[in-house]
Amino acid sequence: MRVDFFQEPGGLDMTAKNKPLAADLETSPAAAHPMDDIAVRQLRFKLDVESVRDPVWSQSQPDFALFINALGVHVPYFERFLVKVMRAYRGELKDTDLLADVQDIIGQESHHAFNFLGWNQALEHHYPGIKDLAAHAKADFDAKFEHRSKKFQIGFTAGYETFTFLGGMIILNRYQELMADADPTLRALWVWHQVEEVEHGAVAFDFYRAFYPKDQWYRRWMVLHAFSHISWETYKAYALMIRLQGYYTKPLRAWRAWKFFAGFAFDLARAALPVLSRDYHPRQHPICNDAQNPLAVAWRKYHAAGHNTLELDNQTIQHLLAGPA
Ligand SMILES: [Fe+2]
Ligand SMILES: [Fe+2]
Repeated sequence: MRVDFFQEPGGLDMTAKNKPLAADLETSPAAAHPMDDIAVRQLRFKLDVESVRDPVWSQSQPDFALFINALGVHVPYFERFLVKVMRAYRGELKDTDLLADVQDIIGQESHHAFNFLGWNQALEHHYPGIKDLAAHAKADFDAKFEHRSKKFQIGFTAGYETFTFLGGMIILNRYQELMADADPTLRALWVWHQVEEVEHGAVAFDFYRAFYPKDQWYRRWMVLHAFSHISWETYKAYALMIRLQGYYTKPLRAWRAWKFFAGFAFDLARAALPVLSRDYHPRQHPICNDAQNPLAVAWRKYHAAGHNTLELDNQTIQHLLAGPA
């Protein structure tokens, strides 16, 4: 079901930052479910080396900044792979609601990839070696699109999107711990990305189900395969960043960084357990079904009201988290 609570304004009104926020939050009704109403937001963040000087951009949890930077090295190549796969096979869909959702996820992921590639250029400046990892990731996804079967492409896309959706929820739910004190632009980038990953969190699943409604075992296998793929790609970039940050000269610091990595991977794997159930659907996953994330709800209203979401300073975040008076 699609609802129209959060229709986009004609464009992003950069002058609207000073509009009274409380009124917007009060007058915009909440969506019935975080996956209702997927909106394509054409954001362009300022992520060059001059604008964001420190790659360790979260003071609340520096290891999270490194972890998410590392994860993001290969992500834009997956996002472009998803776009190509969905464009290649969307013409075979009979369900017009699903086709509309597919158009929206293509729009969202295209904008994600554009911004992540920009941030990765800045990371290459800080960490020589990232460029090779990114080139390998690009070649890997190009090969997957050229040589793998249609079923693999659609199944892998669904498996991978399991974790972008779950990661989106986990990070939004742990916002205070991970990003309370952080660079306003990188914080804005990741809040935007995680909100949209949750919004379109069922689309790749439904896309797989439209083509292979009965093959649950292949779907499960692709979930496991995607998890190992994401873990390995992130591990390679994280190890490089930790080494170049000099953490190995301070064993306790390195141990803390790896503890964060293992802890996050464990949380992600544990959150994926319901996904293996025969009756699973992302909309019914307990993580997004118990209660809506208040930051996500407020951010969607804030953006829909035309405010600037390219930077989220502390004052704006406090308003968003406080919600309507
Ligand atoms: Fe994305
Ligand atoms: Fe996604």
